[in-house]
Amino acid sequence: MGYIDNMTKKIKLIKDKNQINILAIETSCDETSAAVVVNGRQALSNVIFSQIDIHRVYGGVVPEIASRNHVEKITMVVDKALKDADMKLFDIDCVAVTNGPGLVGALLVGVSTAKSLAYASSIPLIGVHHISGHISANYISHGRLEPPFLCLVVSGGHSHIIEVKDYGEYEIIGQTRDDAAGEAFDKVARLLGLGYPGGPVVENAAKSGNANAFDFPRAEVKDSPYDFSFSGIKTSVMNFYNNSIQRGDYLDKKDIAASFQQAVIDVLVDRTISAALKFDYQKIVLAGGVAANELLRTSIDRAARLNKMEVFFPPKIMCTDNAAMIGSAAYYELQKNNIANLDLNAVPNLKLRVN
Ligand code: KG4
Ligand code: ZN
Repeated sequence: MGYIDNMTKKIKLIKDKNQINILAIETSCDETSAAVVVNGRQALSNVIFSQIDIHRVYGGVVPEIASRNHVEKITMVVDKALKDADMKLFDIDCVAVTNGPGLVGALLVGVSTAKSLAYASSIPLIGVHHISGHISANYISHGRLEPPFLCLVVSGGHSHIIEVKDYGEYEIIGQTRDDAAGEAFDKVARLLGLGYPGGPVVENAAKSGNANAFDFPRAEVKDSPYDFSFSGIKTSVMNFYNNSIQRGDYLDKKDIAASFQQAVIDVLVDRTISAALKFDYQKIVLAGGVAANELLRTSIDRAARLNKMEVFFPPKIMCTDNAAMIGSAAYYELQKNNIANLDLNAVPNLKLRVN
């Protein structure tokens, strides 16, 4: 009998248990992370080894260096996740891993590790889409949050407005046509020489800047009211900055950071609230690295209250990449018997499964 047949029998027994322990692994970009998640809602551990300091000197993630560091750290990170949860491998019912999208070499480290653990322990393997993971971070931080809701997923690689119709059931109603929101933060930070990663350093500089100093464009996408375009804002900041330097004008970088941040956040809030009104959602959920941004959190909360809507977002550490969010998403995949075979592969441009 093959692995899948064996596992199909096994999940019936697993689903009868009161406590389902999932060991989750996330290595899609520059965080090596492992977590133990109970019943999709409680993270007993969430170990995150961030490579930010390693990539900082290059001003961005170097894929080859990311893969090497995942290889070096993954065993230690998985061991620590089990230890922090006070568990051994035989306490684990199921192994989950991000298998896309992301950097192929980085994803492969997590996928190979998860496959080895699932095979060695003879337990089911579950492949998780990275965006589904980001959304599911909210199930851990908000114990009673249930679909349906509208989710704004904003990270370094994604800017999506998604209808979450049920657990793991998605419909994309808006997305970026070019740069992701986090990518725009990263590029503007690099231009201004503020450091890396861009989001936190721009946010920090913006705190003492004037958000009304410059009027950067709030781009709309023709005939697509819920789509985004951030490359125009980024180019406008670049042209403005370079022209001012050539003219020898004095510019306060903090004012540029604050005005740029305001433009991006205005667009994110505007599109999300319009989509919630149009598709009749009273619950708005934020996810992804940019959801750690304080101005986004307070602005969308204020706009939502005015429209009698409720906003949910994870604590900042659960906004950026972590394995607990993958463990939560995997629990709901397990409920639907969506288990993977041992030929599960890393898919750098994996599409989100939509209805
Ligand atoms: O979710 P994440 O860790 O990785 C991806 O899936 O891409 O998100 C990382 C992105 C980076 O672009 C980073 O600059 C951005 O999230 N970010 C922020 C903040 N913290 C992280 N952007 C704006 N404000 C922040 N506070
Ligand atoms: Zn991410």
